[in-house]
Amino acid sequence: MPFVVMITGIPGVGKSTITRLALKRTRAKFRLVNFGDLMFEEAVKAGLVKHRDEMRKLDPKTQRELQLKAAQKIVEIAREEPVLLDTHATIRTPVGYLLGFPREVIEVINPNFIVIIEATPSEILGRRLRDLKRDRDVETEEQIERHQDLNRAAAISYAMHSNALIKIIENHEDKGLEEAVNELVQVLDLAVSEYD
Ligand code: AP5
Repeated sequence: MPFVVMITGIPGVGKSTITRLALKRTRAKFRLVNFGDLMFEEAVKAGLVKHRDEMRKLDPKTQRELQLKAAQKIVEIAREEPVLLDTHATIRTPVGYLLGFPREVIEVINPNFIVIIEATPSEILGRRLRDLKRDRDVETEEQIERHQDLNRAAAISYAMHSNALIKIIENHEDKGLEEAVNELVQVLDLAVSEYD
C-alpha cells in the first residue's frame, strides 16, 4: 500500500529546514519528495516558467493540471517506499487561494498523515525578509495569520477525503527549531511503525 506523510506550512515557516533535519534523525526510511520540484519539472518541460516562484502566478487551471501530474508520479514512488511529501495545503495566487490538493488530487495521494508546521506571523515575516535567495511574497501579519487559518481548514477537508491524521507542529525561534524537529521525528517513527 502506498504510504505518504505530507508536510505543509506557509512559505517561510521553516518546513523544509525541519524536514531535512528530521530525516537525518528518524529511524524510519522515507524518500523525501518535494511537490513543488515535480510541478516545476513539468512546468519547465511545457515552457511555462523559468523560476519556481513563478508557478503560483500561473492560471489556476494550469496549476491544477501540474498538480495532477505531480500526484501521479508521487503515487508511483509511494508504491515502492514510504514518501515524505514537502508541499502546501493552500497556495496564495494573485486571484485567490488555490487548494494544494483538490479532491481528485488528494484522492490519488491518499496521505496517512498531514503535518502542519506553524509559527507566529511575526516570526514568519522575519524569516521571509531574511531569506534573500527567494522571491517571497510581501504580506502583513494579518494576511499570514489568515493563510495559516485557511491551511488548518484545508487539512480537515483533506482528512475527509483520505485516511489522514493531522498533526500541528510549532516552529518558534531559539530552541523552537530543535523541539519542532524532535516532534517530527516522533511522528515519522510512529508513522513507520504503522506501515511495518
Ligand atoms: P516549496 O518548494 O515548498 O517552496 P516554499 O513554499 O518557498 O517553501 P520553502 O521550502 O522554501 O520554505 P519553508 O517554509 O519550508 O522555509 P525554509 O525551511 O526554507 O514550493 C514551491 C512552489 O511549489 C510553491 O510556491 C507552489 O507554487 C508550488 N507548490 C508546492 N506544493 C504545491 C501544491 N500542492 N499545489 C500547487 N502548488 C504547489 O525556512 C525559511 C527560513 O527560516 C530559512 O532561512 C530558515 O533558516 C529559517 N528558519 C526556519 N526555522 C527557524 C527557526 N525556528 N528559527 C529561526 N529561523 C528559522
